[in-house]
This record gives sequence, structure tokens and C-alpha cells, in this order.
Amino acid sequence: MAKTTTTFVCQECGANFTKWSGKCFDCGAWNSISEFKVAKPTKGDRSAKGLGAGELNAGDLAAKSLSEFDENGVGKGTRYSSGFSEADRVLGSGFLPGSLLLVGGEPGIGKSTLLLQFLGALSAAGEDCLYISGEESGAQVSARARRLGITALDKLKFLSTASLETALAAVDTTAAKIVVVDSVQTLYSDAIESAAGTVSQVREITQNFLRAAKTKNIIAILVGHVTKEGTVAGPRLLEHMVDGVFYFEMAPSGGFRLLRGQKNRFGPTHEVAVFEMGSHGLRQVDNPSARFLEERAKDTAGSSVVAHLEGSRPFLTEFQSLTQKCHSGFPRRTVQGVDQNRVSVLLAVIERSLRYSFSDVDVYCKVASGARLEEPAADLPVLTSLLSAALDKPIPSNLIVMGEVGLGGEVRGVPGVGARLMEARSVGIDRAIVPASNLKEAKEVAGIRLESISNIRQLKELLAWPNKMEKRPSKKEDPSQFEDLGF
Ligand code: TYD
Ligand code: MG
Repeated sequence: MAKTTTTFVCQECGANFTKWSGKCFDCGAWNSISEFKVAKPTKGDRSAKGLGAGELNAGDLAAKSLSEFDENGVGKGTRYSSGFSEADRVLGSGFLPGSLLLVGGEPGIGKSTLLLQFLGALSAAGEDCLYISGEESGAQVSARARRLGITALDKLKFLSTASLETALAAVDTTAAKIVVVDSVQTLYSDAIESAAGTVSQVREITQNFLRAAKTKNIIAILVGHVTKEGTVAGPRLLEHMVDGVFYFEMAPSGGFRLLRGQKNRFGPTHEVAVFEMGSHGLRQVDNPSARFLEERAKDTAGSSVVAHLEGSRPFLTEFQSLTQKCHSGFPRRTVQGVDQNRVSVLLAVIERSLRYSFSDVDVYCKVASGARLEEPAADLPVLTSLLSAALDKPIPSNLIVMGEVGLGGEVRGVPGVGARLMEARSVGIDRAIVPASNLKEAKEVAGIRLESISNIRQLKELLAWPNKMEKRPSKKEDPSQFEDLGF
């Protein structure tokens, strides 16, 4: 067994310390630091073999100017398709050899299924694949592979082991181009005394597969279970070591599963692919917007369509508002899916610019698909929804609005207007109100009747909405409360 040395590691973030302390100086977590024995690198390990360098010869040890290096191979080279065009987009046109990826997600979300389907596509394309599982037997995985319709089973090698050393030996002997380790928490290295799943074990395994990916120019994918706190064990530690981090998670509204790029050295970040689980595994959802809007409440006041970007991918979802006469004297603002402060700001802007008062109504808002709308581009659809609810006037169901709203009621341009409009058009929306500064870009999308505004006052004119809120029946209602103050 290799020599060991003692180190103190934060179980939350994976930071290393030479001494124990009650609080992690890196992430601030309390009582998270434990003592670990880690393998001391041998002289051989400490040789000049840098990661990604492969086998070096003496000439490589001298410093060279950057222009002398061949850029090919970094972020370039032949990509391997995962078999799903949407997943390829999230990965950055598919898998790149020489990269180590981490796929995280809660137990039961479908990580093993997704990766087996990836391997199914890669093996069908003639690539040698290796699936290493510390959780399931060969019979189980074989039965699942058949159910998933994977045909090139000869090309797909399987190894059930919990030993890192055995796993690495299999990577050598099978000469696989793509290796999946399911999961990083179930493997352990003999060189380390702590149990499988601890930070020092996970780090050791990750380092070994990183070396294997770089020196053999293979694609290595580690599956990581997400802990109760919602993080892969030692998240910051692992995320820094790997080339890409992808999370597989339930869409907030349930039903769909999302593959989300969190970090990607060789591709785009924050891209999202939508999947759904069926009896024969995961299926890509090609038009999630239509599905998100399927049950939209048409001709109902307070319902607006929002086009939000996840990475460069536009998604459409429904935003809903409801206003109710407040009887308590303390108007409520109950908000889901957007920041409550943002709704308060928009209410204040409406009050100031359009002179409608929300001071004696309760306001309830939610995003129908369960998405979180963080983008400024959602300001205008949220504001339109609030106004529509207050006036009890439905927003036309063929209309989409987008834009950032400033405190003076001015409407500012937003990025990705073309992509948002094209997505809207795909679900049959044929009218859009866009910020004036985006009109030129918007005009490039055919088939949508465009109107542009630079202030929210123009919005009300375009929608031909009245100057007064509808009076709600109430015994104690003060007739002057919704008075039009001259808008
Ligand atoms: P799994 O991939 O094992 O999840 P993870 O590896 O993330 O823990 O599978 C998750 C669930 O998917 C499991 O409850 C069974 C279900 N499932 C289907 O509904 N259809 C299928 O074809 C397969 C293979 C699994
Ligand atoms: Mg699994």
C-alpha cells in the first residue's frame, strides 16, 4: 500500500487544511472538517508528466512560446454524438475525446438510463464503450440495455466493481473510447484508508480518471449522486477538476427532466435539453414550449406568455397574476417563480407611470411551468400580466411581449429577441410587442406582426386597455379608490 499523509478536508467544499478547525475558512461551513489519510505521491507520480501532456520526452520539459504549441486538440477534434441532438447541443456538439465530465443528479432521476442510452448510441456508431458500475450487476444493466433498444451490445463492455484499481485496469484492457463510471461515490481506492464516497476517495478517483482521459485521449464520464443539500460530494473540488459539469434534474413543474450544463471547458454553459422518461427510456422533447403552454388558460385575465432564455435556448412559459381586494389592510404579495422584490418594483412602476393603485389589492403571481424567471426580459410580460389581472382584461392569446422595464416606465432592449420570437412563432403566436431598440433584429423574423414601444404607456394604448381598474363588488368599497388620475 502506498504511503499516506494526513490532511483535513472540508466535507462541504473539499478545501484542504493542514490543521483541524471548527469552521471552514474557504466556504464558511461549520463542523464540516474531518481528518483524512491521503496517498502520498510516489516519486514516479511527481515526475514531469503534467496532466493533458501525455507521455513527455526531454524536449517537452523546456518552456516554449505559446505559438509553438499546436492548438488542435484543445476544444477541437472529432466530436462523438450522444445520439440526442439536444444533449449534443448542451455538451457542445457532442463528446470531445480527452475530456472528463461529471453528470450529477438525485438518485432515481435517470442518470444511469441516460448514460446507458448515450453509450448505446456510441456503440451503435462503432465505438468501444465501457460501463463501470459499482451499483448494479451485469444482468441488471444488460436487461435495461435490451429494454432501451440498444443493439450493439458486443461493443458495450460492462464491469461491476467498487475498486478503482480494477476499473482503471479495465480501461486499459478494453481500449474503450468512452468510459462511464456509475457512480464516483461507489468506487474506492486501496491507496486511501477512508470509506468510499468521502472527499478524499472521490478526489482520488477523479484525479485518476482525469489522468486516464488526458493520457489516453478518451471520454470519461463520472456519475455523481447529489446529496440532500443538492450538491455532488465535494462540489467545488470536483467541479474544478473536471472539464464539464452537467446536472440531470426534474423540471420544477415535474414531468420533464432537464440536462443542464453548469460548466463546460469545451462548449457552451447553461444550455438545457429537455427529456421525458417513458417505458423505453428517455426521449428528447423537441418542442418543450408547446408542451409548457399546452394547458394555458386562454382568454383569462392575468395570463401572459414569457420567452426566457436558458443559455441560448428559448423556452416559452406562462406567467399568471391574480389580484383580489384586500380586506386585511395589509396587501399581500405572494409570488412564485420570480423575485418578490421585482414584482414590487414593477407594481411601483405601474402606479407611478400609469397611475393605477395596487395599495388595496392582494397580488398573487406564479410561473405556470415552475421555471424561475431571472432575466430582465421577463419584466414586460410580468408587468403586462399584473396590469391585465388588475384591469380584468385578458391579453390576446396570439400575443407575446418582451422587454426590460426601467423605474421610469421606459422599456429597454433585451438580448436574443430573434430566438425568442422564432420560438413564439413555433407555437402559433403571430403578434409581438418588443422594445423599440430591438425592432430591427425582430424584423428579421418573418410571420410575426410587430409593434414596438419605448415606454409602458404605449403598451396600454396598443392593447386598448381602459383607464380604470374594474370595480370589484365590495360592501365597504370606496368609490374613489381606483380613480383615474389623469392617465
Ligand atoms: P435510473 O437511471 O436508475 O436513475 P439514477 O441512475 O439517476 O438513480 O432510473 C430512474 C428511474 O427511471 C427508475 O425509477 C426507473 C425509471 N425508468 C423508466 O421509467 N423507464 C425506463 O425505461 C428505465 C430504464 C427506467
Ligand atoms: Mg443509477
